[in-house]
Amino acid sequence: MTGLSVTDFAAEARAVLDTPVWDWLDGGAEREWTVAGNRAALDRVALVPRVLADVSACDTKTTLVESGANLPVAIAPVAYHRLFHPDGELATARAAATAGVPFTVGTLSSVGLDELAATGAVLWFQLYWLRDRGRLLDLVRRAEEAGVEALVVTVDVPFMGRRLRDAANGMTLPPTVRAALLDEGSSGRAHRRTKDASAIASHTAELFSPAVTWHDVAWLRERTRLPLVLKGVLDPQDAVRAAAEGARAVVVSNHGGRQLDQAVPAAMALPAVAEAVAGLPDARFQVLLDSGIRSGSDILAALALGASGVLLGRPVIWGLAAGGESGCARVLSLLETELRNALGLAGCPDLRSATRLRVASMPYFPGKTP
Ligand SMILES: Cc1cc2nc3c(=O)[nH]c(=O)nc-3n(C[C@H](O)[C@H](O)[C@H](O)COP(=O)(O)O)c2cc1C
Repeated sequence: MTGLSVTDFAAEARAVLDTPVWDWLDGGAEREWTVAGNRAALDRVALVPRVLADVSACDTKTTLVESGANLPVAIAPVAYHRLFHPDGELATARAAATAGVPFTVGTLSSVGLDELAATGAVLWFQLYWLRDRGRLLDLVRRAEEAGVEALVVTVDVPFMGRRLRDAANGMTLPPTVRAALLDEGSSGRAHRRTKDASAIASHTAELFSPAVTWHDVAWLRERTRLPLVLKGVLDPQDAVRAAAEGARAVVVSNHGGRQLDQAVPAAMALPAVAEAVAGLPDARFQVLLDSGIRSGSDILAALALGASGVLLGRPVIWGLAAGGESGCARVLSLLETELRNALGLAGCPDLRSATRLRVASMPYFPGKTP
């Protein structure tokens, strides 16, 4: 592994993964306009550094939702880590524990909650809205018992976006990988190959409710003491409504370009969301960002655009595929190095000063980040 930049790990992951698994990780919805747009929006952010600010020590510690974190970073929920490495979520959670950042366990985790709790990582739990409310509440209770510190409700998946690469590959789970929290065997829908269709998409269509509304968020709010985070918000009005319904944070996200193709790039949507929630009575309400973060300066850009922190999706999985727990830990430690470097060179001794940085916008950026 060379691993001098996070994208080096992408090349390594691609080299070790079977094509359908790589495509499932790398791909997005339809033309993948939003996947490209997420990068283009971040590439166009120009940071305006400050000077003479004594950056001999940069403090990167923060609180995300209610969890302490060494960096303004959490691991995004990504389904089925065992597709990428036999240790699956155990490896990723251990790396998160070492880095001191929250790890989001997905509803579609391929490792059980108790095993993940035993890693000592700060856990958040990502909830997909299951059609069966009994099963949904059971998941919430199990997450509470495992000691998770936040419930991340994914609100941009009434159903799965049309991922053409997966359909073309007939993406299907191998018998060794299963949704460990859903108590299903390996004979379920996600394991049944169909020509020209993704079995993962068919499985989720069977499970997830497309009828979920704000009333359901209020219903859930009454049934758990865990702080709620709504993930997949892009419109400022939805962020304000999330706060009104008692959520503690939103993740400005387009699911890494995997849901609505031509959805606004997340970094482009962020400033308006941050501005809309700035004057809310609950000053603890946070705006997080994901979709396209690939470097420490991207994290700095997110803070300067109004986020309290970022979630990382694909980069962590590149590390997992390339080298299990240690590959994942190397990605996280590289991002920490890059973030500390960017903060120092931008004249920011702490994260608060990062949120006050000015940004300019490049009209056109000829560079390219995969
Ligand atoms: C392979 C893959 C699986 C994902 N699975 C989930 C999931 O189960 N639940 C969820 O809320 N988001 C899921 N996401 C979306 C991520 O949480 C996150 O929003 C996205 O990956 C961020 O963009 P990035 O990959 O560019 O960092 C998944 C993303 C990928 C790439």
